[in-house]
Amino acid sequence: MYVCVCNALREKDVRRAAEEGGATRPAEVFRFHGCAPQCGKCACHMRAELISSNTCGNCDCDDAAAVTANYEPIAAE
Ligand code: FES
Repeated sequence: MYVCVCNALREKDVRRAAEEGGATRPAEVFRFHGCAPQCGKCACHMRAELISSNTCGNCDCDDAAAVTANYEPIAAE
């Protein structure tokens, strides 16, 4: 399925940018593939794909799953 129609980037292209290029943000995905955002409508879908490929897109960490593994939500009182 296409994530970015403007640049013909598919989910596998986003995952490849994350895995091979260390992309954690949409801008880095575009850079990895040598293109640039056009309309920007794909940003949310691209972030979701980065999250599912264990890069959160919100920080510089490599492995969101490892960061959140020990996370315990604060219990409501
Ligand atoms: S859909 Fe990605 S820039 Fe337009």
